[in-house]
Amino acid sequence: MTELRSAHWYGGDDRNAYIHRAWMRRGMPEDAFDGAKPQIAIANTASDLTPCNMHLNEVSDAVKQGVWAAGGVPLNLPVVSLGETQVKPTAMLWRNMAAMAMEEMFRANPIDGLVLLGGCDKTIPSLLMAAASVNLPAIVVPGGPMLTGHFRGEALGCGTDVWRLSEEARAGAISNKQFIASEQSMIRSKGHCNTMGTASTMAVMAEALGMTIPGFAGTPAPDARLLSMSHETGELIVKMVAENRRPSDIMTKDAFINAIVSIAAVGGSSNSVLHLLAIAGRVGVDLTLEDFDAAGSGVPVLANLQPSGKFLMDDLYRAGGLLSLLAEVKDLLRPEPITVTGLPLVAYLDDKPVYDDTVIRPRDSPLMADAGIAVLRGNLAPRGAIIKPSAATPELLVHTGPAVVFDSIEDMRDRIDDPNLDVTPNSILVLRGCGPKGYPGMPEVGNMPIPQKLLEQGVRDMVRISDARMSGTAYGTVVLHVSPEAAAGGPLGLVRDGDMITLDVPSRLLSLNVSEADLADRTPSQASVDAYAAPQRGWAKLYVEHVTQADQGADLDFLVGSSGDRVDRESH
Ligand code: FES
Repeated sequence: MTELRSAHWYGGDDRNAYIHRAWMRRGMPEDAFDGAKPQIAIANTASDLTPCNMHLNEVSDAVKQGVWAAGGVPLNLPVVSLGETQVKPTAMLWRNMAAMAMEEMFRANPIDGLVLLGGCDKTIPSLLMAAASVNLPAIVVPGGPMLTGHFRGEALGCGTDVWRLSEEARAGAISNKQFIASEQSMIRSKGHCNTMGTASTMAVMAEALGMTIPGFAGTPAPDARLLSMSHETGELIVKMVAENRRPSDIMTKDAFINAIVSIAAVGGSSNSVLHLLAIAGRVGVDLTLEDFDAAGSGVPVLANLQPSGKFLMDDLYRAGGLLSLLAEVKDLLRPEPITVTGLPLVAYLDDKPVYDDTVIRPRDSPLMADAGIAVLRGNLAPRGAIIKPSAATPELLVHTGPAVVFDSIEDMRDRIDDPNLDVTPNSILVLRGCGPKGYPGMPEVGNMPIPQKLLEQGVRDMVRISDARMSGTAYGTVVLHVSPEAAAGGPLGLVRDGDMITLDVPSRLLSLNVSEADLADRTPSQASVDAYAAPQRGWAKLYVEHVTQADQGADLDFLVGSSGDRVDRESH
């Protein structure tokens, strides 16, 4: 075996090695820091303020046992954690900060391998971005979804049913008291959201990229098998260090294609586009928006899971789990990319029966025949926009209507329920000022609420267009990630009330039906200019000055790429 990276801290008899070893001993075995035992950091996003990840200390303990058993030294490393429901103004603003802090700490410390404990939406992407940039051997442990909660005898999907019930309350279909009463039933156990929202999608993404032990993603958080697979992960990372298997060996272009196909087959979150683009940028893979359309469109949605379908993550696990589902689309997956085990993902897809085909639908009877992420272009989105057709109303996928424009999220909230708002079911709601720079941080507000007066008429969906993101648990005919965003000078900033807009998903078109000459004469509305205040200090200032647009993953321009694991200078 080649010399361990950590031996640069612990090996030898000089004063610096003495210092590095002495401060770490603290009751550890005598040979723990002899320079020959792999040092495994368990990057742990457990936090009481990230409720979906609160259980990860227990998971860390299981990983530790596995590392010890395989001859390594486990080291718990708390890292920046992001609770999707808690942090303001949006967790996405902090994803790159978390990734940067993690990358620097992975590199700065005496670490030979990484186990990445994530769960809630941004935690797995930020961990993977960091691991890709430092390129140390790494395995993801997905923290797992929670068990299904019930309200008045019906299953509750986290997120998705919050949106549904709140719209029903606004429409008067249920009382606000009933809506609030459902709150206690929403979160039944430890774990992350139990829909195929962003967190579940990120677990699928990590597994399809090859970065988990195959069969791990989707294991419910309270399930004993989560801990046994965590133990196994601890053993495997020690082996990976010995075999020098690194993220750049695993996350190849074909692995990203497998992730796109897998996410399409489960009806995964549109947020995956941003995260995959950002991770690819870190590992040096040339992934573009077109790859999502080319690889993902035409893939059938087989997972009958909310928000696209009916069931929840616990049901997917009961029905056979992710590998049983991927076995149905094995022919669409690239056979070459290896996983953390050294074997390709497709090697794990034989003899994987489906135990409930109402949850994992057969290939010849999918939930939707043709899903994935559609990439739209046109004069309203020169660098692209996306829509998730599986979450949309089929009749609205080709639609022309007049724009009703909101200059900011606050403007939208102020006016959306105004009885005098000039809006009909045929209108197209346009929201700007919610992109990476404009908000800043690209919040999940693209699924704007339906105006009250239309709700009362029974309208439940309409075309909505923005430079924002949408929660992975949300649904509707929602065009997202318009690039460039309004705050970066994109044409979205020039749209006026009443302008006709055409959405044509089969033709991949998003068009503002205003002549080029008229557009050239326009300037952004004063209200949109007034709504934007550039941050003057701290992370937000750094972020808006360097964040890339959505079509490039909204990473910071100076964090794209890898810096490897070398640190040449001594601290003492
Ligand atoms: Fe954490 Fe949904 S809020 S996964």
